[in-house]
Amino acid sequence: MNPLNHVAIIMDGNGRWGLKYKNSRNEGHKAGLNTVEKIIKETIRQKIKYLTLYAFSTENWNRPKNEINFLFDLLENFLSKKIEELNKQNIKLNIVGVKKFSTKLNKLLNHSEKKTSKNTRLQINLALNYGSKFEILDAFKKLSKNGDKINEKNLTRYLQTKNIPDPELLIRTGDKKRLSNFLLWQLAYAEIFFEKKLWPDFDEKDYIKIIKKYKKIKRNFGNI
Ligand code: FPP
Repeated sequence: MNPLNHVAIIMDGNGRWGLKYKNSRNEGHKAGLNTVEKIIKETIRQKIKYLTLYAFSTENWNRPKNEINFLFDLLENFLSKKIEELNKQNIKLNIVGVKKFSTKLNKLLNHSEKKTSKNTRLQINLALNYGSKFEILDAFKKLSKNGDKINEKNLTRYLQTKNIPDPELLIRTGDKKRLSNFLLWQLAYAEIFFEKKLWPDFDEKDYIKIIKKYKKIKRNFGNI
């Protein structure tokens, strides 16, 4: 059975779900948040140590203002209401990406990270304003500025995911088979599962099924 320490998820399909059932993309994001809570609970049950969620990419800034504002309001509400509970559950919150939001949200994110920084049960990495190409280029720039030797180990020290082991499993919901500029370096050897269901329809049972399948895969890492 393969060990499973880190699951990364591209939570795709909120917009389509919202349009299909509620005639509003934003309602899809609201429903998507319920799935986030279900998946966090199951991740704890499975004793998985790291969960990385792609919540907002650098490319998502191209969306209509109303949708962007809705997403950040949703995040603000969620954190204000739930950070205490996450902390009690011994969950650590870590933001991956460049924190360039409103002063209020930046403060809330910093406060949430600080409050939960010593927690050890599960680390949730929330990818916000995250883009993998930017991350890798930025790491190279820092590496060369500091005159460090260019090698894999040194480069990873400058990635936004430093100190986080690479995900062994990537799940993308929403029936699209692409990586969308997500953890391109870190996913080099991940097992990838593309799920047809839209994110708001995805649940614990689907998650458990994927985990079971992943655990049985013969992972070769280039060997035979
Ligand atoms: C992709 O679906 C989803 C997002 C860009 C946002 C993800 C946000 C959530 C799951 C809810 C908020 C989460 C937190 C942690 C507060 P899409 O809108 O691209 O879907 P589409 O492909 O159907 O348009």
